Amino acid sequence: MVKEYFLILFLGIAYGAVLPRDFAWGTATAAFQVEGAWNVSGRGQCIWDYFQNFPGRIYNNETGHVADDFYDRYPSDIKILQQLGIKNFRVSLSWTRLLPNGLVTNVNQAGVQFYNNLFDALLAAGIQPFVTLFHWDLPQTFNNFTAQSTWLDPDVANKFNAYADFCFKTFGNKVKYWITMNEIQTFTWIGYGVGTHAPGRCSPNWGDWCQQVGGGGNSSTEPYLAAHNALLAHGLAVQTYRKYYQPTQKGKIGMTISSAFYYPSNTSEPEDYKSADVSVAFQYGWFADPQVFGRYPEEMSSLITGNRLPTFTTEQSMMLKGSYDFLGVNYYYSQYAHYTGVPGDNFGNDCRCSQSPYNSTGHLIGPYADSGWLNVYAPGFRGLLNWVKNRYNNPDIYVLENGVSCPGENTVPEAQALNDTFRMDYLYNHIMNMVDAVVNDGVRVKGYFVWSLLDNFEWTDGYNVRFGLTYVDYNNNLTRTVKNSGYLYQSLIGYLGTHH
Ligand code: NOJ
Repeated sequence: MVKEYFLILFLGIAYGAVLPRDFAWGTATAAFQVEGAWNVSGRGQCIWDYFQNFPGRIYNNETGHVADDFYDRYPSDIKILQQLGIKNFRVSLSWTRLLPNGLVTNVNQAGVQFYNNLFDALLAAGIQPFVTLFHWDLPQTFNNFTAQSTWLDPDVANKFNAYADFCFKTFGNKVKYWITMNEIQTFTWIGYGVGTHAPGRCSPNWGDWCQQVGGGGNSSTEPYLAAHNALLAHGLAVQTYRKYYQPTQKGKIGMTISSAFYYPSNTSEPEDYKSADVSVAFQYGWFADPQVFGRYPEEMSSLITGNRLPTFTTEQSMMLKGSYDFLGVNYYYSQYAHYTGVPGDNFGNDCRCSQSPYNSTGHLIGPYADSGWLNVYAPGFRGLLNWVKNRYNNPDIYVLENGVSCPGENTVPEAQALNDTFRMDYLYNHIMNMVDAVVNDGVRVKGYFVWSLLDNFEWTDGYNVRFGLTYVDYNNNLTRTVKNSGYLYQSLIGYLGTHH
């Protein structure tokens, strides 16, 4: 293994001179997944605090109450970043740690102090914070279990804008990279379509738990509506930042969007090629087209039946158009797409296509990771980066998440988990595909963040699925131990990130 990665040295010399000088190498986390301290020093409840209490929602009925206790241990976690030479760190702000009931009329000073301390400590260590405003932990006060609550309520966009304004004002002298929203598709499709993420809404025919947790819903309309309101929230926040803060604070702002990349299931079927492209438009384009063009992808507006896909007013469209300094990309996996021609009433087949890790001849695109949804295919990363470059006229891109859970990682003894060769291969191959995208294809990638620095609370998978470069021993005082992938990343940064 070591011998294999020695190659990196030579690749580093070959490529090091061509990555942008200010290329940002980092790792990513999110408040609810690492902080813990859920009821400490005035933090208010968020929808995940509520959702996780229902038996059977989370693996083993685990909770984010303690998580990695990053709230208390961030000083030593920053030391890990320093040790590994990681100079950029993506965190999210807990809305309810700052504003316990979600409203700016009620500020929790202890929360403000916590994030000030965190940013001061990062900056003192020479580490640049990249800060996500919303990583799924909506205030529970916005959830009254009606069809107008949470992201279904257009007024939540205004409340988010007020929260964003508060964050820019309070932390903008320290934070120069803002991410408004993390993966709108994930929290709307899974939270309002499938119902297995908070707030747990979905149509009754998806199972009675939707009624129990989220108060019922409509899986064929609500994900589109919730996403629409989240997009408007993004637009408002960017408008606020541009008008009142950016001129003096001189930071950058964008959103991060997750997408798989898709290949035709049957290469002799032209419709499957189209379906592969349409599938990316339904994931990445859904959120990037409004930012770049001020409207939804034509692929979506032409295929989604009825009036289930909301429309933007002229004013909203103008607000959204150009509402980014960079486009964020979260990439994990690839699949095959197959044209079905069936116009669906449910979200999944509005593209009139199906997606699968197997193609029409039964070939598996790549090995499964520990998370059932993740199939490893590194060239798909290069493919997605090129898709974004071509569709949006070569924008600045930050890869704000890329990473993997190793098969069976949580079932083996720690010593074995530390030698995470599956993750090492994944990172090495994905980073090399990104370098190819930059060097050979001219994609303007400005930074790359591994998900994640630490094993953490993986939503419905609880602590059973690990994504960290650092092992967290949940049975022994949350002790941290850097895995071999962490050291590999350190070498890659060293060789690719410096200029020879
Ligand atoms: C995307 C999400 O942003 C993050 O919260 C999650 O843990 C990772 N992907 C891995 O599933």
